[in-house]
Amino acid sequence: MDQLHIRGGAPLKGSVRVSGAKNAALPCITAGLLTEGDLRLANVPRLKDIETISRLLRHMGAAVEEVGAGGLAVSGRAVSRFEAPYELVRTMRASVLVLGPLVARFGRARVSLPGGCAIGPRPINLHLGGLKQMGAEIDLSGGYVEAKARRLRGTRIVFDMKTVTGTENLLMAAALAEGTTVLENAACEPEVQDLAALLAAMGARIRGAGTDTVTVEGVPTLGPATHRIIADRIEAGTFAVAAAITRGDVTLTDCAPEHMEAVLGKLREAGVDLTPGPGRLRVRMRDRPRAVNVQTAPYPGFATDMQAQLMALMSGADGRSVITETVFENRFMHVNELLRMGADVKIAGRTASVQGVPQLRGAPVMATDLRASASLVLAALGAEGTTVIHRIYHLDRGYETIERKLSALGADVRRVRA
Ligand code: EPU
Repeated sequence: MDQLHIRGGAPLKGSVRVSGAKNAALPCITAGLLTEGDLRLANVPRLKDIETISRLLRHMGAAVEEVGAGGLAVSGRAVSRFEAPYELVRTMRASVLVLGPLVARFGRARVSLPGGCAIGPRPINLHLGGLKQMGAEIDLSGGYVEAKARRLRGTRIVFDMKTVTGTENLLMAAALAEGTTVLENAACEPEVQDLAALLAAMGARIRGAGTDTVTVEGVPTLGPATHRIIADRIEAGTFAVAAAITRGDVTLTDCAPEHMEAVLGKLREAGVDLTPGPGRLRVRMRDRPRAVNVQTAPYPGFATDMQAQLMALMSGADGRSVITETVFENRFMHVNELLRMGADVKIAGRTASVQGVPQLRGAPVMATDLRASASLVLAALGAEGTTVIHRIYHLDRGYETIERKLSALGADVRRVRA
């Protein structure tokens, strides 16, 4: 298993291109199941999770091919199997995004239940409840969910809580349903908006995407489309923290600062000097950050996917910061590893109290999930000495060539095959 060896201390300098958003690309790829037409997606990041979803679609009979840098051609014409097997769903929960499209277009789907994962139980009851309301018959047996429907019917669905992939699944289902579906308390994330933009290009009739009430007038079929995936706001946020934690000066290009308001607000409050421009963001930091308090929340709140990275920054801040995780139950897996690097963090339930220390120190640490791994990379970049991060396959799920991007900014990072 590969390791990352990082010697900290070098201020990052230069510019780095932000990749396309993993969490927008995943649902956009599964949208290919909704149509016989070809989808041409641009700005798709080359990541393990994208390979996994592509493998899943191919398993169903779809064609998924890389076309040039960042291009992906998806054709759902020959889909003939309607199952997402355990082996694939187990490695990536987002596989559940095939459920809505399959039931909507073919009237059937058999998808392995995702089960627990490192950041909490993450059920899919809201996805299933919505499909049921649209007339699907749902059976759970042998660890699989089977959904059947002649044709889904539009209805009013009120989500109990905000769910990103739940909203995406029902948006795709509603696009081909008979009649009008209204999704209330829908997730507003830019990734949901990006999927809605692709669906609209395919001929779907959607109003209100990006607000918490989305109205979808179903159409009988959807057609081909081309679409460019939005910039990855979490990768961008991670690089912004990398610049700050190393007291560097980094310009992010091809990014979307307008999707990052909450995170940028907190970085500013911490003393980071930010200069946003159209499609770019300059990040500079000279002094030790000030401690800030953060509570994660659905968009436009502070993204849970940036919580671990902000904690890495706060570990070295001047003062005590209180970080509250409200979206997931168990998303403090990075804390024990940060402690090994000299951080001073105490957890009580969903709240972490982080007393900043003047200097983190390198240590051997273990990555546990994608964003936890990112926080360890950041802590390592700001630390004194060398950090060896084990199990970096988590990182490869969501960060495209991270060690190359960091090295180009002057970081001392090596991938070592152990
Ligand atoms: N939830 C339910 N029932 C459901 C669905 C969700 O109780 O049917 C709960 C979850 O357990 C969680 C909360 O609702 O406590 C929010 O979960 P959500 O469904 O929004 O998460 P998700 O759709 O599974 C996506 C991202 C995650 C990101 C979350 C929150 C994708 C593929 N994944 O997950 O990204 O953390 O939204 O913003 O879009 C990552 O990229 O590292 C990652 C984990």
